[in-house]
Amino acid sequence: MSAQSNTGYIPGFGNHVSTEAVAGALPEGRNSPQRPAFGLYAEQLSGTAFTAPRNENRRSWLYRLRPSADHRPFAPYAGAPLFVAAPSAEPLAPNRLRWSPQPLPEGPTDFIDGIVTILGNGAPEQLEGVVFHIYAANRDMHDRVFVDADGELLIIPEMGRLTVLTELGRIDLTPGQIALVPRGVRFRVLLPDGRARGYLAENYGALFRLPDLGPIGSNGLANPRDFETPQAWFEDSDEPVEVIQKYLGNLWVTRLDHSPLDVVAWHGNLAPYRYDLARFNTIGTVSFDHPDPSIFTVLTSPSDVPGRANADFVIFPPRWMVAEDTFRPPWFHRNVMSEAMGLIHGAYDAKADGFAPGGISLHNLMTGHGPDVASWKGASEVELKPHKIESTMAFMVESCWPYRPTAHASTSAQLDYDGVWAGFPKARIA
Ligand SMILES: [Fe+2]
Repeated sequence: MSAQSNTGYIPGFGNHVSTEAVAGALPEGRNSPQRPAFGLYAEQLSGTAFTAPRNENRRSWLYRLRPSADHRPFAPYAGAPLFVAAPSAEPLAPNRLRWSPQPLPEGPTDFIDGIVTILGNGAPEQLEGVVFHIYAANRDMHDRVFVDADGELLIIPEMGRLTVLTELGRIDLTPGQIALVPRGVRFRVLLPDGRARGYLAENYGALFRLPDLGPIGSNGLANPRDFETPQAWFEDSDEPVEVIQKYLGNLWVTRLDHSPLDVVAWHGNLAPYRYDLARFNTIGTVSFDHPDPSIFTVLTSPSDVPGRANADFVIFPPRWMVAEDTFRPPWFHRNVMSEAMGLIHGAYDAKADGFAPGGISLHNLMTGHGPDVASWKGASEVELKPHKIESTMAFMVESCWPYRPTAHASTSAQLDYDGVWAGFPKARIA
């Protein structure tokens, strides 16, 4: 196997990029020449409908050693036992739910076989919804690649670095960074540290994009220049490769006699990217009260209803707390949106304990939640001085569709989560 090393990145979000791993591979002035250079095959990858408005339209042209169409039939894939097609259909009680970190696998397990689906909503064939998975792995995907036809995958590492080799380039990831792999892009995950764990948000809906900033202005939150798209990279390999594809909720497998990571050049605006969450320009109050957590939105996938997200990826990064006469942690609330949370490192300021890095919590449609008793008591009594919340990174995938846990998640949730809201003293009138 030979691989072209090209590890650079191109800055910017959703830009029209042109990149080639071999000089002369990228056609000039047209997308589909009669005879592409070197006998490469030209192939368009569409992330939106051909007729999507120009400012929504995302597609790329790929120039590759063999066309993607060259494959044998897919058959059901028997691995990845907890990577499930659909959430449990059992009636769902309106309870808050929380999960401790998923254990690391004991036997050899790669990124695909180590995916555990926890929560989901929507359906791939409806092109709406988001699914919340954990991955926990201890071996490289040696001669395998994965492709998700159901949605784009937001990868959120919590433990261990990842090398994500995609058709469009190589992304190196460390906890604190995120990466997005578009729907339909094949990729292989390697584990430089020998083990890794983290979260996946699988977005069936409209593509993630940067949120509008409204009165914030033209800068702030996640700035476009901090997103990085890899340059073209490919491997020229005639060794067998197993392709595992998620398609309409199920996993399928076929074998190729060559690597499909063979895109020598590409151009367009549909591509993988990474982003360092430490670059997020966090905005908050400098007077009193804190804004709704939407102020921490990194990426948003809109639904067809204005302002109501199919999925918002929101972070709770290190930040200064300076509000006067204010209860500073997240307040008590009930929300028509449904909130699935994870923790990358540190501690979350609304929970004293029980929410560990690698864990998950679910506060679904209209379930009352907020600080636990210890956090409420501390924040109610503390002398309010400027204070910096440091060394933490929690996140939320907020969706307008209520989540349902999988059967596995239903039986592995913490038993005592409701207890964190037990014991609040009654308010006294007069
Ligand atoms: Fe909430």
